[in-house]
Amino acid sequence: MPPAEPSPPYLPGAPYIAYRDGELWVEDVRVADLAREHGTPLFVYSATAMRAAVAAYQRGLQGRDALICYAMKANSTLAILEVFARAGCGFDIVSGGELERALRAGAAPQRIVFSGVGKTRAEMRRALDVGIGCFNVESRAELDVLDEVARERGVRAPVSLRVNPDVDAQTHPYISTGLRDNKFGIAHEEALDAYRHAASLRGLSVVGIDCHIGSQITSVAPYLDALERVLDLVEAIEAEGIPLHHLDLGGGLGIEYHGEHPPTPDALWQALLARLDARGHGHRRLLLEPGRSLVGNAGICVTEVLYTKPGSSKHFLIVDAAMNDLPRPAMYEAYHAIAPVRPRTEPPTVWDVVGPVCESGDWLGRDRALAVRPGDWLAVGSAGAYCMSMASHYNTRGKAAEVLVSGAQAQLIRARETVADLWRQERALALD
Ligand code: LLP
Repeated sequence: MPPAEPSPPYLPGAPYIAYRDGELWVEDVRVADLAREHGTPLFVYSATAMRAAVAAYQRGLQGRDALICYAMKANSTLAILEVFARAGCGFDIVSGGELERALRAGAAPQRIVFSGVGKTRAEMRRALDVGIGCFNVESRAELDVLDEVARERGVRAPVSLRVNPDVDAQTHPYISTGLRDNKFGIAHEEALDAYRHAASLRGLSVVGIDCHIGSQITSVAPYLDALERVLDLVEAIEAEGIPLHHLDLGGGLGIEYHGEHPPTPDALWQALLARLDARGHGHRRLLLEPGRSLVGNAGICVTEVLYTKPGSSKHFLIVDAAMNDLPRPAMYEAYHAIAPVRPRTEPPTVWDVVGPVCESGDWLGRDRALAVRPGDWLAVGSAGAYCMSMASHYNTRGKAAEVLVSGAQAQLIRARETVADLWRQERALALD
């Protein structure tokens, strides 16, 4: 019998990120070629994977009046925003900076929704001046400020209230947002009164209702619970003569990092639409704010093994990517798959994969079985979402470069930051 083919290492993202001929490819581009050309750490993304993720949502919503607003906090690099704008997406933004990015990427302002608990007056003014589609308002105090700013400018601000349905998204506490004691949204029992208040303000025009219960949700049940609670509110609000034009169910759909099986966007929406139809709300305009599920598994971060450091109780693999590039393990103890770009046939050793930053929290993966030598490249999986967008300059490390692949084409979409970039805004000491 011929020897069994070794199974390729585990890395989410197939078929766009996959092993062929003994090495890792992103679409039709060899990852090793990109690492050699651009250096490491290097983020590599598949544009086709992003388009396929949008298409899965579009399939699930076929025949409905729906707008997918990409939650750009997941990854706000301009070229990536352009991919989503061209695929027909609007954008969910949470800051004036994100507003400018969306506009720069060619987004139609009416397709932008503005979320977040702490919008400033300046951000409100700018968003009103460009004519965004909706403000997702998160408190009564914010309603009053937005009303004032809109009246000053002689316009009416389109608003939804973000209501907090008090359901448990069963995810990491730091990324669960729909519970009573989160800072987000307006409590379910206060929502009706807040709507009455909003409807009484001349600077505001009530257009919808919004909720977002958390992130990396891997089952349909919390969504259905939230939907039921939101529909109860919709009925109560409309009974008071305040019509709601759209329903925004936020984002939050999880991805596979390590063996999770979240529902696909189409399956999730099939279940939600069935419930909407059953309660007679199937005609409503729908807004969605997915982030991670559109980009998370469309990207990897390529890093070079600098040193192996075997120890008495732990063996460390020191790589050139760190917590400033990939903050999720340090922040949430998150698991990201780590796999060699060109697997070796030697027996593996169990390593803790760590970066060069001076913190014990600077680890990328623990207890990983890998056969590697210094100079090898590793791919950190599921690195499309909440990695580059949360990257920092800690330890005066410039941000990594980013490459976008589409078919056999690869484009550098962010050049590696230089040290001069890092201190450009700083001023030499001028005091005595
Ligand atoms: N809409 C709102 C109002 C949000 O706050 C968020 C995410 C989203 C949409 C998009 O959620 P997604 O579809 O990506 O789950 N840094 C964390 C995730 C923070 C999520 C914050 N809000 C992480 O790395 O897991």
